[in-house]
Amino acid sequence: MTAPTHPRTSDELIRAEEPVLAHNYHPLPVVVARAEGAWVEDVEGRRYLDMLAGYSALNFGHRHPALVEAAHRQLDRLTLTSRAFHNDRLAGFAERLAALTGQDMVLPMNTGAEAVESGIKLARKWAYDVKGVPADRATIVVAADNFHGRTTTIVSFSTDETARSGFGPFTPGFRIVPYNDLAALEAAVDETTAAVLIEPIQGEAGVLIPDDGYLAGVREVTRRAGCLFVADEIQSGLGRTGRTLAVEHEGVVPDVVLLGKALGGGIVPVSAVVGRREVLGVLHPGEHGSTFGGNPLAAAVGTAVVELLETGAFQRRAAELGEVLRDGLAALVGRGVVGFRSRGLWAGVDVDPALGTGRAVSERLMREGILAKDTHGSTIRLAPPLTITADELTSALASLEKVLVSGA
Ligand SMILES: Cc1ncc(COP(=O)(O)O)c(C=O)c1O
Repeated sequence: MTAPTHPRTSDELIRAEEPVLAHNYHPLPVVVARAEGAWVEDVEGRRYLDMLAGYSALNFGHRHPALVEAAHRQLDRLTLTSRAFHNDRLAGFAERLAALTGQDMVLPMNTGAEAVESGIKLARKWAYDVKGVPADRATIVVAADNFHGRTTTIVSFSTDETARSGFGPFTPGFRIVPYNDLAALEAAVDETTAAVLIEPIQGEAGVLIPDDGYLAGVREVTRRAGCLFVADEIQSGLGRTGRTLAVEHEGVVPDVVLLGKALGGGIVPVSAVVGRREVLGVLHPGEHGSTFGGNPLAAAVGTAVVELLETGAFQRRAAELGEVLRDGLAALVGRGVVGFRSRGLWAGVDVDPALGTGRAVSERLMREGILAKDTHGSTIRLAPPLTITADELTSALASLEKVLVSGA
């Protein structure tokens, strides 16, 4: 089938995808053609406020000028070397990312799932080389309702049947405990445990925020058990919650932090494992890698992202506007909202199931010019770019109210 040469409408483009694109997503029926800041525009020129921000990959908004400029500059100089050679952008990126996160070393990868896979491999290798776990016996303790990505190993320890069903056989070596349950965690770790791997806030599960003290407790349990604390901050990190990392809300420093999404500034896929030298130092040449990991374009954009975060301005903004978001949502409880959880500019909003599924509410919001997405059932996730203004946020909340209260 050949593509027509005339410009196609949104409806035509959506229909054209059906026979040629794998059906692994169910997008809202909007076809985005342009974007700037917190706004996107569809093929017909309709404008929408982006309240999802690429699941936090667009923390700095669409096409942030400093990030676009860094990408353009690098595109004109050097884009890829592979790690067969050094490139002149990688050292600076690693130095600054390590400093930003208070860690020693960086393992650059591309997607979030790759960072998680890399974190798992590192934890296992550390367990054998440093902790002394007998070969092939290492275990990793994870939380129920986690979301860490889509690879075979990662879905091996998912509790979401849709994500797993039909994809076995699975990778062994994982123990699943309830999230936010320190006693269960403590009971699950033993001398074979390489790491505890958790999200400091569970994003896909509906922005589930653990009780105060849970993350500090995980730090304590892992320290006592002599295993690693690996924090998946791929969605929660890099300013989203009002801090650089979500673990900072409890003053916790994990052994390993997984980063992705916003690290690429919404321009290129950039992920990284950052951690202590004792852990990342276990890797030797040939044991792990990626052709594109640490490429100069990714490093240039990643460095520009780190520069934005070094100012602290985005974290402050997320914290301040997070109060506007929280207050606005609190005012909707009992008026279409049955509950919500928020931290910084990130919220999981449980809408009254009587008003429709999260999907139906997201479609109604779309018609009001607001793009958001359901997670599970009747929960809608809000994660606008951290560059959103207070007025834009207030107008998004007004649209949510309109959709829920008047059933627009
Ligand atoms: C916490 C967390 N980890 C890992 C991933 C996987 O990232 P990617 O889709 O880039 O592979 C995601 C994606 O949503 C995530 O939210």
